[in-house]
Amino acid sequence: MELILTASDWTATQTDAVVCFCYSDVPPPEELAGGLARELFTRQEFEGKSGETALLHRPAGIKAARLLLAGLGERAKANGPELRKAAATALRFLKAKGVHELLFILQAPVASEALLQAAVEGAVLGDFEADRYKTDPRKGEKRIDRVRFWVERETIPLVEALRRGRVVAEAQNFTRTLANEPGNALTPMKLGAAARQMAAEFGLGCEVLDEARLKQLAMGALLGVSQGSAEPPCLIVVRYTPAEAASGAAHLALVGKGVTFDTGGISIKPSDGMEKMKYDMSGAAAVLGAMRALAQLKPRIPVTAVAPCVENMPSHRAQRPGDIVTSYLGKTIEVLNTDAEGRLILADAITYASRLGCTHLVDAATLTGAVAVALAGVHAGLFSNDDALLGRIREAARRAGEKMWPLPLDDEYKDLLKSGFADIANIGGRYGGAVTAAKFIEEFVEGKPWAHLDIAGTAWLDDAKPHQAKGPTGVAVRTFVELAMAWS
Ligand code: BES
Ligand code: ZN
Ligand code: ZN
Repeated sequence: MELILTASDWTATQTDAVVCFCYSDVPPPEELAGGLARELFTRQEFEGKSGETALLHRPAGIKAARLLLAGLGERAKANGPELRKAAATALRFLKAKGVHELLFILQAPVASEALLQAAVEGAVLGDFEADRYKTDPRKGEKRIDRVRFWVERETIPLVEALRRGRVVAEAQNFTRTLANEPGNALTPMKLGAAARQMAAEFGLGCEVLDEARLKQLAMGALLGVSQGSAEPPCLIVVRYTPAEAASGAAHLALVGKGVTFDTGGISIKPSDGMEKMKYDMSGAAAVLGAMRALAQLKPRIPVTAVAPCVENMPSHRAQRPGDIVTSYLGKTIEVLNTDAEGRLILADAITYASRLGCTHLVDAATLTGAVAVALAGVHAGLFSNDDALLGRIREAARRAGEKMWPLPLDDEYKDLLKSGFADIANIGGRYGGAVTAAKFIEEFVEGKPWAHLDIAGTAWLDDAKPHQAKGPTGVAVRTFVELAMAWS
């Protein structure tokens, strides 16, 4: 999809459709489409509400074949997230109609760099479809080839904003593509190969530690999860190093859960809905997507992604409930439930990131069903042992337009993880499941500033929305990018 910034007269541009953003409390320009837009608005057939669209054919005074009005809601509340959503909705709506090229009008006040970036992201994210395995030869016919973004003046900061939007959204779509891969196609080693390929393409460092190496390092928690599977595990490490890193600067670790399929192991999951457990590597996919973007946007601090990758299977070799494993850090863990595997592999990966010299640890994981019980599919759960890091992440998430909500980590929760036979148990009982899972991980961060995103409820969309295809969402990529870019 070609993305073009233009300042030349949009009324004279030959294109399939022009998209004009409208507010619910500001009537569209009088002259637009010979007064038709205003008329629709006064008759309340198009109210400019968030998510609303109205299509006009052969609009008067405009060379384009169609004019689409796209609602942003109240002007005072319209912001980046609204514009991202409206741009995605408009693109998906027009794509479904067989339109191949379109033009977004970004007139003041939606003309800032941040808002242009949001609109570009909306267009690229809206174009995503999880249809890789559909063989319908006609699926390529509904395709957007070219999107123009009209601004009053073409400036260098706006050119840069367009590029940023494209880089970030393409990275998020890369994450979505990985997360959608079925367990038979994307095994841990295949995910390692995908990381290696991405790193080579974008000039990042990459190592994939294989099973023999993980045994040498004695990553007992990770290996215990993996032992029931015929697929060997791996630990992916992808490195970005800035051209001139200030000495003593922060070194950010992005750690992502990479369970390529989670059956639950011997504590097996019910079959209903188990097919979705292919997306249990969404955390790993998110940190790889973030690295793909960061390689191009070049933050000032070093960033290292670490993704522990395993398949969680029941078999004659599988880990048993009651097994005690020794983590890479040396703490012993009683595995009371083999389905609480994410925290086990993250524990070892976090120790590894810490030993690499990372100063700040941030992980993303589809960790608990409990986070979806608490926050539904709206917010990701956000946990941190460090107020400054928590503040940075909340601010990054706000700028990125990703919803995250802080949850507690008080010491009382640690008591729920007591084991009678080892240093810690891997489950905390019936209540506060998202918190006890986070509390478990905290036991492995050795006091370093750390934050955890539980994306189990937000990494997958069950039903398509006007602005978003069903399936993998690529959540956390944009926040990670903002977090690293804002660090100085
Ligand atoms: N991968 C699951 C969590 C999950 C649930 C992700 C739903 C996406 C959607 C995780 O490994 C798991 O099974 N967690 C258990 C923990 C429990 C055994 C303490 C859970 O949430 O039920
Ligand atoms: Zn599980
Ligand atoms: Zn899992």
